[in-house]
Amino acid sequence: MCGIVGYIGPNQAAPFLIEGLTKLEYRGYDSAGIAVFDGEKINVEKSVGRLGALTQIIEQKQPQGCLGIGHTRWATHGRPSDANSHPHTDCTGKFVVVHNGIIENYMTLKEKLIAKGHIFKSETDTEVVAHLFEESYEGDFEAAVKKVLAQIEGSYALVFMTQLEPDKIICTKQDNPLVIGLGQGENFIASDIPAIINRTRKTYILSDGEMAIVTKDSVWVQNRQGVPVTKKVFEVNWDAEAAEKGGYEHFMIKEIYEQPKAIRETLTGRFNKDDSAVVFETLKWTKEELLKIKKIAIVACGTAYHAGIVGKYYLENLARIPVEVDVASEFRYRSPLIDEETLTIVVSQSGETLDTLAGLKEAKRLGSKTLAVTNVVGSSIAREADQVIYTWAGPEIAVASTKAYTTQLIVMFLFGLYMAGIREMLPKERIKELIAGARNLPAQAHELLENVDPIKTFAQKYGFNEDVFFIGRALDYCVALEGSLKLKEISYIHAEAYAAGELKHGTLALIIEGVPVIALATQEDVYEKTLSNIKEVKARDAVVIGIALEGDDQIDKYVDHAIHIPRADKYLAPILAVIPLQLLAYYAAKTRGCDVDKPRNLAKSVTVE
Ligand code: AGP
Repeated sequence: MCGIVGYIGPNQAAPFLIEGLTKLEYRGYDSAGIAVFDGEKINVEKSVGRLGALTQIIEQKQPQGCLGIGHTRWATHGRPSDANSHPHTDCTGKFVVVHNGIIENYMTLKEKLIAKGHIFKSETDTEVVAHLFEESYEGDFEAAVKKVLAQIEGSYALVFMTQLEPDKIICTKQDNPLVIGLGQGENFIASDIPAIINRTRKTYILSDGEMAIVTKDSVWVQNRQGVPVTKKVFEVNWDAEAAEKGGYEHFMIKEIYEQPKAIRETLTGRFNKDDSAVVFETLKWTKEELLKIKKIAIVACGTAYHAGIVGKYYLENLARIPVEVDVASEFRYRSPLIDEETLTIVVSQSGETLDTLAGLKEAKRLGSKTLAVTNVVGSSIAREADQVIYTWAGPEIAVASTKAYTTQLIVMFLFGLYMAGIREMLPKERIKELIAGARNLPAQAHELLENVDPIKTFAQKYGFNEDVFFIGRALDYCVALEGSLKLKEISYIHAEAYAAGELKHGTLALIIEGVPVIALATQEDVYEKTLSNIKEVKARDAVVIGIALEGDDQIDKYVDHAIHIPRADKYLAPILAVIPLQLLAYYAAKTRGCDVDKPRNLAKSVTVE
């Protein structure tokens, strides 16, 4: 996720561009840049690091001009660096673009452009668009943009400018947001409303496939077929702070609702042509090297650790390889049996958790191959590990991790399937079936998020209980652990997760009348056993909320309330089952008046031991 801005009008562009990028830093903040046309040529200023670094450059250089575009980056392709920062130009510097999204076919296009003599300055997918723009321009800006769009595949919000036609900016979108702020004799472009809300509250919200030609006095919108579109003015009545959350009350609920897109983006480009195998373009190990791996160690903290536990199930069940999972703060103090035949996977949303980084270094010292699964390109853990597989969830601002967790599960699932393919542990048909199931997840997650009222009701009804238990077996138990942490860390309710079969070995003593028990029952091969455990707690007058698959009409006979999730393969069910638990935690915290995005005593990234 990145932040894009554009300006055209009678005033200097740079001040709005910087102001707008400041309001969009929550969308990405590893590097930033602006391009301004000074009447003769386009001047590009960009810098790695937070926006402050760019602001200093702009204050010194004072780029002049009334036409400009800008970008604040959340790296996906190409680590954070000056060269990889946007805006990107063509060979001549006359054609400039900024981009939010992923150009899936950029490697193929880049090879063709290089063969034609184009010189690339960055590792990004976006730079390909700038060179295509140059290639396509034959005196008509609009026609050139259409020619570019006909060649690229993927998700994008794109803003184009050229010094050859400095009276306009052209912008378009597919799967990524873009709004146009309608001013008086000036117009503004941005990824999101916060960037323009202080300049105008009249906006056009572009829809997928629409392209806008923006001058200082006009905005002309057309659809993919070139047919003019009459846009309805959307009057923004949010305050600036609410706008940063996209109209949501908290970043956490916004990020919960971003999960369908985050899951889709994390799956993007990671299957082969006929969906019969997982591919990781960035992984450099050969099949022979991976076949030498005899054991996998997974090391992480908190929610990432819970993703690691699910990863164990994936790798042991799909790839039939032994896996150990440790919390990072314990790992390096237990003299782990790690060697050259071990692959150590460290999972970390921030890529900066000190315990996890230290565990990674210990694994390397012991000779292990190391793989990072992280959400931040160029983070310390990403740089320290031998190889990296990124989750593409976009910046996660709320302290409570939600979309990072589900996308970590996606990466662990993909890697499990990848290793199963390499070790020839699964028939091709089964791999294709699992890939088809994974492709359904974004829509299924979206469906789940459309019906949250029952969860809100439970949260309001039970949100003042001081003890809540989460139970489940197998993968349901893994999800119970994450559900318990979510509830604990933002509502301050004392929640515990237990393997359902373990209750009778002690915890059942705590189950008394009225205690809420969240029972996960999505794993069909242990379903009957889980039902028995539900009966166990019901016999002690607990209040049971069951999480079950759609079509399961048995569960309703045994629980007080049932939440059904869309039917999915047992390996994919955890990615959906956690969503009601995230929502339960969120609404319970709201019911209790807690600070949802910044819970007491906690930090988003724990960079201390
Ligand atoms: C998640 O909800 C928690 N805020 C916390 O447990 C977090 O998962 C943990 O600190 C690990 O962070 P990381 O993924 O950035 O390494």
